[in-house]
Amino acid sequence: MWEPLKAHAAQVADRRIEAICDTARAADFQVRTGDMLLDYAKTNIDAATRALLIGLLDQTGVAARRAAMFAGARINETEGRAVLHTALRNLDGGPVIVDGADVIPGIRATLDRMATFATDLREGRIAGAGGAYCDVVNIGIGGSDLGPAMATRALSPYHDGPRCHFVSNVDPGDIAEVLARCDPARTLVIVASKTFTTIETMTNARTARAWLGERMADPAAQFVALSSAADRTGAFGIPPERVFGFEDWVGGRYSLWGPIGLSLMLAIGPDAFRAFLRGGQAMDSHFCAAPWDQNMPAMLALVGLWHNQVCGYATRAVLPYDNRLGRLPAYLQQLEMESNGKRVAMDGSDLTAPSGPVVWGEPGTNGQHAFYQLIHQGTRIVPCEFLIAARGHEEDLHHQHQLLIANCLAQSEALMKGRDLDAARAGMAADGLTGAELDRQSRHRVFPGNRPSTTLAYPQLDPFTLGQIIALYEHRVFVEGVVLGLNSFDQWGVELGKELATALGPVVEGRQGTAGKDGSTAGLIGFLRLHNA
Ligand code: F6P
Repeated sequence: MWEPLKAHAAQVADRRIEAICDTARAADFQVRTGDMLLDYAKTNIDAATRALLIGLLDQTGVAARRAAMFAGARINETEGRAVLHTALRNLDGGPVIVDGADVIPGIRATLDRMATFATDLREGRIAGAGGAYCDVVNIGIGGSDLGPAMATRALSPYHDGPRCHFVSNVDPGDIAEVLARCDPARTLVIVASKTFTTIETMTNARTARAWLGERMADPAAQFVALSSAADRTGAFGIPPERVFGFEDWVGGRYSLWGPIGLSLMLAIGPDAFRAFLRGGQAMDSHFCAAPWDQNMPAMLALVGLWHNQVCGYATRAVLPYDNRLGRLPAYLQQLEMESNGKRVAMDGSDLTAPSGPVVWGEPGTNGQHAFYQLIHQGTRIVPCEFLIAARGHEEDLHHQHQLLIANCLAQSEALMKGRDLDAARAGMAADGLTGAELDRQSRHRVFPGNRPSTTLAYPQLDPFTLGQIIALYEHRVFVEGVVLGLNSFDQWGVELGKELATALGPVVEGRQGTAGKDGSTAGLIGFLRLHNA
């Protein structure tokens, strides 16, 4: 399956992207949906490459798999589950049947309950012992943290509800710093955990309950649970009317669209939250209807597969020129690496291609002053994915936003064009250098260029647009996973560490010895125990 693409890649390997990036290419190698534009003209993909890549979609049955996902089939085969985060944002579509029953009425009822709760809390009708809630602490980890934390920051211009804090790490420094900033009598604690067993979350939830218990007569009254495990939320002491549930067909890293998004809804209000859902739904409609070469998630996936599986570039950088998307790279790390960081195919056989890439990044322009040195002049090629809004939210600082745009476009242009030795020498010679020093200094100023990037451009980072962006990446991950033949919806790779951490607890506490431990682990425990006392 990969051979024709690899042969084609070898043929075009020495071609300069700049040489093919003419005006006609700009229109041909862009995809639009609504007001959003994905430019992949600054890659080495040509019409022949694209045809071969699209062939992968047909060979691996992406369209049938997409239909199965939206219809509620159990495509998460290793866990025997449907994959229906898309149903959470299906605000006006038809029924979705799982096990003979339509799941849509339940989803809408939960959304309405969330909206009523959020409105009552935001307007002070639901209040803490000391009055209207001013602080909300979301305790969760992984998908129960990264989604709401990323989105709440992204949509800060729309934030008109209580302050929202996010506690994820079992490191006591995380929760201690947050609680120190909160007024206990006016703090709502949200325990966000699909399973309600995750050790970090349950430990932090107990710490928060103790913190409230020392200060309040009825600490349980200031808790809410977001979970699929109603029995466990009850056992923790949270009454059913304070539990917002969801089904096992919502994966943790895909859960922002439902109850796990409650903190976001409290921050921006139910109407803006619905606009966010509508953005996701619009991307779903586009993904299901657009032909492959005009299909934004499919083309973004194919660009990713070209760079990683065909060209062998092992990482990709996500570079939002949108400071409020500062947590997007971390969010995408979970979405992409927990989904497609697998070594076996659905049937248990070895993958025939490398798994999904390492995803990393930081907002521009900050990254420019940190790691861009490597992406411009390092020996490894890092495909870059830029994101940029046409306008910011600070109208009085429009000129700063224009500077941001100029920086974003300058980086992708510099990556593509580079600067050759002649140009570098001319610059140095103009500065008065000659002879061996001119030779030596010039080589340091060469930029090889020919480094690929994509740019996602949108009018403004509003709730609808954020919904489009998140759904775009979700479907990109889905398409890449189907082509690779793996299950994007399980995460067995996180289990071993959890088991060992549980087993190590008594050893670290000194209740058990280190017998049976390897030398390194035993030595580290010895050191840490010594300094832990
Ligand atoms: O350990 C990984 C993981 O299962 C993620 O997939 C999930 O988002 C996270 O833990 C949190 O899980 P839960 O919501 O059940 O606490």
